[in-house]
Amino acid sequence: MTLLALDHHLDPGSLAEQMARDVAAGLVWTPRTLPPKYFYDAAGSVLFDQITRVPEYYPTRTEKALLEAHVAEISEISGAVTLMELGSGTSEKTRLLLRTLHDAGTLKRFVPFDVDPAILTEASTAVASEYPGLEVAPVVGDFEKHLMQLPRGERRLLAFLGSTIGNLDPDQRAAFLNGVRGTLEQGDFFLLGTDLVKSPERLVAAYDDAQGVTAAFNKNVLRVLNRDLDADFDVDAFEHVAVWDAENEWIEMRLRSTRAQSVRVGRIGLDVELEQGEEIRTEISSKFRRAAVTQELARAGLEITHWWTDPANDFALSLSRPV
Ligand SMILES: C[S@@+](CC[C@H](N)C(=O)[O-])C[C@H]1O[C@@H](n2cnc3c(N)ncnc32)[C@H](O)[C@@H]1O
Repeated sequence: MTLLALDHHLDPGSLAEQMARDVAAGLVWTPRTLPPKYFYDAAGSVLFDQITRVPEYYPTRTEKALLEAHVAEISEISGAVTLMELGSGTSEKTRLLLRTLHDAGTLKRFVPFDVDPAILTEASTAVASEYPGLEVAPVVGDFEKHLMQLPRGERRLLAFLGSTIGNLDPDQRAAFLNGVRGTLEQGDFFLLGTDLVKSPERLVAAYDDAQGVTAAFNKNVLRVLNRDLDADFDVDAFEHVAVWDAENEWIEMRLRSTRAQSVRVGRIGLDVELEQGEEIRTEISSKFRRAAVTQELARAGLEITHWWTDPANDFALSLSRPV
């Protein structure tokens, strides 16, 4: 098998510095905020994988069904020689693309790209052993900063699944999509998964499952800060909150302090006083409408050629190309 060494664009030192800067700024903002990428250490990635299997979390199974239904078309249209995947995680759904492109005889290289080296190593090793002869070239990086590290070459398909794009706010999305456009050339395609606006009840349930897996995932960011920034958050003194913001059409995940507490973040010498009931925003998860996705992609210089959705209009896959 051809598994290349992790191409590491997040050296642990620079990641810790970035985390320190983000946390120093985010914890003193109003509302207090932490970026979602810090959920994903090895434990956080395992928890996210568990979220994808809870009954309330419809996005993964809906997107998988869409991929199953349209993978042959995606393979034929893209004729991809290189499949690249941003925020690849376990690359579980991506197996459908890998299998079809492999059977079509076009695929030579797979480039999973993720911020968490642990999940990337596991997924890359598995894919390389499933597809002897396929070059697997994993990249550890931040898709808001390191898109230029994606390899060049003919007929590339860039996949961004799981509606991870929804974790970016509109300004971040515009910058990200400009970055995506900047890496693509004529003949390349961008496959994007977007979760669609639906009833607030179903959305809130998807981010607050009965088994408490999303709550554990949310709190994991505090464990990451305790370990990596020498902080002393009392993880048990926070509760998980998921609310629908109807104006912005996004779900907000927050951590609510159940008592007044002082937190010290040792590595950056920051003291934070939290009142009882005070919240820290840990993630937004924007929900989309077709017109807005089309417009945001168009502004970045990407034209949608195909839009696929399920009968309930819960989730969409779009294929676009640079113009
Ligand atoms: C919501 S999960 C989706 C995983 C998988 N693509 C799926 O569809 O199930 C987000 C993934 O993106 C990764 N991720 C989050 N922020 C990132 C960033 N800024 N740069 C690179 N990867 C990131 C996480 O480690 C995680 O694997």
